[in-house]
Amino acid sequence: MKALVLAGGRGTRLRPLTHTSAKQLVPVANKPVLYYGLEAIRDAGITCVGIITGDTGAEVREAVGDGSKFGLDVTYIPQEAPLGLAHCVLIAQEFLAGDPFVMYLGDNFLLGGISDLVDAFCHGGYDAQVLLTRVTEPQFYGVAELGPTGEIIGLQEKPVHPRSDMAIVGVYSFSPAIHEAVRAIAPSARGELEITDAIQWLIGNGYSVHSHMVSGYWKDTGRLQDLLECNRMILETIAPDNRGTVDGLSEITGRVVIEPGAVVENSVLRGPIVVGADAKIQSSYVGPFTSIGPRCVVQDAEVEYSIVLDDSSVHGVSRLAHSLIGRNVEVSRAEGAPNTYGLMVGDHSRIQVRA
Ligand code: G1P
Repeated sequence: MKALVLAGGRGTRLRPLTHTSAKQLVPVANKPVLYYGLEAIRDAGITCVGIITGDTGAEVREAVGDGSKFGLDVTYIPQEAPLGLAHCVLIAQEFLAGDPFVMYLGDNFLLGGISDLVDAFCHGGYDAQVLLTRVTEPQFYGVAELGPTGEIIGLQEKPVHPRSDMAIVGVYSFSPAIHEAVRAIAPSARGELEITDAIQWLIGNGYSVHSHMVSGYWKDTGRLQDLLECNRMILETIAPDNRGTVDGLSEITGRVVIEPGAVVENSVLRGPIVVGADAKIQSSYVGPFTSIGPRCVVQDAEVEYSIVLDDSSVHGVSRLAHSLIGRNVEVSRAEGAPNTYGLMVGDHSRIQVRA
């Protein structure tokens, strides 16, 4: 069994962060979301992994290397343009070499890993296995329509009028039959070879496609609110661990991880929170479900339910919430009159201010 991890794509819904960085490398609880997937693959007993890369290939290679730090053997497969998930299978054919494989979308997070799913596929003898879960906004996903006995009768990719609320989770298992399917289909209206069309082709041509309901937590972290939710969910699972320095004036409650070199002074931290290495929190409040990246400075400020990436500072601002702050960003209070906002913001940023 091999794994094919998809780490290309443009990440348009996470701009401006994805102007400079791969969406799969955005940290959740201070660890790139892609790492959780790679660890899940390793924990399922798979070592041979192909990673499809796009424009951000250099950064992905830099972050993952040859895979040995995860216990994996990684082969990189560059995709010249984001031509669809089924196109990824097409260009990975040589790497896959007729083996069954798990296809894992690098921005997906599945709590509890994939070992059970891989076992179910291996023992079931299916040609394909898709995971489904109920969502409130199916129009943003691939959607499955099920028959009376739970069998898949139709699949649609991001339909305007979804026929069900069952979204397709970005972790698929395939037998080599999928190669015939990806060669047989044509690009969709948006010009991509859709994996949903390839699976539909398998169904239409009598192959066995098994669906499996995911009962646990799953997120596609491609959008801000999902990323913050994923951050919350991972922080819910952390064990408190203070390896930094906290002064006597500070109050720490709940599950809080403080990485080495981090300093907390005169502050209130209400977990779950992770504070990255060498970060500094001074005279501030950091509330639940917040990840503060390495070397960040939070001073005279209040932050909660947010992700602040490496080397950024939040100074004199209260209260920052539901926010994703990129790397090397400064958020500070404008001093003096008139009462104005002073902004220098990258392309495709989103700012919400109090009226
Ligand atoms: C892709 C698939 C979609 C699936 C989703 C899950 O969409 O095309 O069928 O439901 O992943 O994460 P994307 O998020 O790449 O637009």
